[in-house]
Amino acid sequence: MQARQLAILDAMGVAVYVPRGRAEPAPARASADGLPGGGGDWQALEDAVRGCRLCGLCETRTQTVFGVGNRSARLMVVGEAPGAEEDRQGEPFVGRAGILLNAMLRAAGFERGEVYIANVQKCRPPNNRDPSDEEAERCLPYLRRQIELLDPAVILCVGRIAAQRLLDTDTPIGKLRGGVYRLDGRPVVVTYHPAYLLRSPGEKRKSWEDLKLALGVLAEGSGDGNRA
Ligand code: URA
Repeated sequence: MQARQLAILDAMGVAVYVPRGRAEPAPARASADGLPGGGGDWQALEDAVRGCRLCGLCETRTQTVFGVGNRSARLMVVGEAPGAEEDRQGEPFVGRAGILLNAMLRAAGFERGEVYIANVQKCRPPNNRDPSDEEAERCLPYLRRQIELLDPAVILCVGRIAAQRLLDTDTPIGKLRGGVYRLDGRPVVVTYHPAYLLRSPGEKRKSWEDLKLALGVLAEGSGDGNRA
């Protein structure tokens, strides 16, 4: 990563983690004044993601997939990475998995537009392969800044990759389910990815338990668990 890119992200409040073994000289602190959108707000972050060339996925993407939904939402859904349809449309979870995610949200009392949905990875990995460690480390600061800006009451990680990357753990998803974790103080609940549920519909019951857990956390936070 170039020092200038690091400085811009730093000025925007985006924490950048340089992968182990790839340390580069620390950049000078830049002022936020020169940034498009003033630095640090949603627009500046979206612009930075749109122009991002921090990993090789920028070479194969059709477009970046920033995130979608209510920027005042109390429930944030975090997935893995855009697939083919998301890459085409520029919006997360618009393919078959997205249709199931919408149904899951509706069952929990939310319309899609009431929550905020984003991925760990903002660009599609070719052939839907898992994002590499380096790709995830380069992209994760954007998600972390989205979380800071949104300040959700609960984060629902859908799928192993989202859960393990966000919680920085290798624990299998089957073991992560059922717990309430903390990310900078914010509660995180883990469930299966809708694409997995499409392949294994018998697991939907467990996912419903996870959604109820997330709703319980929301209710604890507000006394009104049915509000996004
Ligand atoms: N799977 C994800 O994890 N994210 C998407 O946006 C689409 C499918």
